[in-house]
Amino acid sequence: MTQTNRRFLLAKRPVGAVTREDFTYEQAPAATPGEGQIQVKNLYLSLDPAMRGWMNEGKSYIPPVGLGQVMRALGVGEVVASNHPGFAPGDHVSGALGVQDYFTGEPQGLHKIDPSLAPLPRYLSALGMTGMTAYFALLDVGQPQAGETVVISGAAGAVGSIAGQIAKIKGCRVVGIAGGKDKCQYLTDELGFDGVIDYKAEDVHAGLKRECPKGVDVYFDNVGGDILDAVLSRLNFKARVVICGAISQYNNKEAVKGPANYLSLLVNRARMEGFVVMDHAKEYGKAAQEIAGWMASGKVKSKEDVVDGLETFPETLLKLFSGENFGKLVLKV
Ligand SMILES: NC(=O)c1ccc[n+]([C@@H]2O[C@H](COP(=O)([O-])OP(=O)(O)OC[C@H]3O[C@@H](n4cnc5c(N)ncnc54)[C@H](OP(=O)(O)O)[C@@H]3O)[C@@H](O)[C@H]2O)c1
Repeated sequence: MTQTNRRFLLAKRPVGAVTREDFTYEQAPAATPGEGQIQVKNLYLSLDPAMRGWMNEGKSYIPPVGLGQVMRALGVGEVVASNHPGFAPGDHVSGALGVQDYFTGEPQGLHKIDPSLAPLPRYLSALGMTGMTAYFALLDVGQPQAGETVVISGAAGAVGSIAGQIAKIKGCRVVGIAGGKDKCQYLTDELGFDGVIDYKAEDVHAGLKRECPKGVDVYFDNVGGDILDAVLSRLNFKARVVICGAISQYNNKEAVKGPANYLSLLVNRARMEGFVVMDHAKEYGKAAQEIAGWMASGKVKSKEDVVDGLETFPETLLKLFSGENFGKLVLKV
């Protein structure tokens, strides 16, 4: 029996925040897998701030989603049909499955996961792209040393919360910047951050002065904008600024706001470096193993915020930009 495939196609390039009208939501018969192809029943989709960038025209680290194409999304699912020797019905896989019920196509880029080792959404958070981002951006670019002060923005979010816990494992003083009392309390009480700055309730400059009396050695930036500028003004000699993301800028209708305080890099012989997780694809296995070990010993905790319903996709994605998500935002299909 042919299954119905609900799916979101990108209908137009959004201006500012996405709206439902930027997509076509349709129900069509699921395709039949051809030679060398598999069909996957999608179970959970990863909702990522980067999805907003993938909708824009122009050169980036990955081609934009084409108009009329299924919206790109990472996800986990179960193989339900296979014409490929490497996959069998019942296998669970992770990869770019798209905002739809069924992925049908060549399995390149999909890899098998074991649902008996961890709950499926975790393969999209600490054990997935999110965890890989935190691990490699912090350790490779940030290069934190024991005793140093590491500041993280978007700290209660998916990437930021893992990065902060890894920085604690490395013996650093870790200060998180997040919006709201609940998130800040979670960082100190649950995750062991040394200090927090609630950027929605206090001046970030004043918070940095209080929480980073010895200055900032590593800044892991997830948000850009004014917060990046504030942290630049507190850098130490030879500090490292990791440009992981700039969520405060993704919905801008005008040009991205760059840092005014960049000469702090010159004065402090500091560096600012961009990061793209895909550059580390070959090393994911090693990192996932190490993170899984930390989780098993209680040194790293992962929180997933699972929202039910494929049909809620556009509205659920917006939670990332309003800060309504608390933990890795995952859509249950
Ligand atoms: N470079 C890479 O390879 C790579 C890979 C994955 C992710 N990333 C980046 O990592 C960052 C975090 O992604 P994530 O998946 O972990 O998302 P997330 O942090 O779980 O969710 C986004 C959070 O950003 C905060 N936020 C939203 N608008 C903001 C604003 N205007 N100013 C300050 N904070 C704002 C909100 O937290 P509050 O409630 O605290 O405001 C929100 O909960 C993003 O910038 C993303 O693009 C980069």
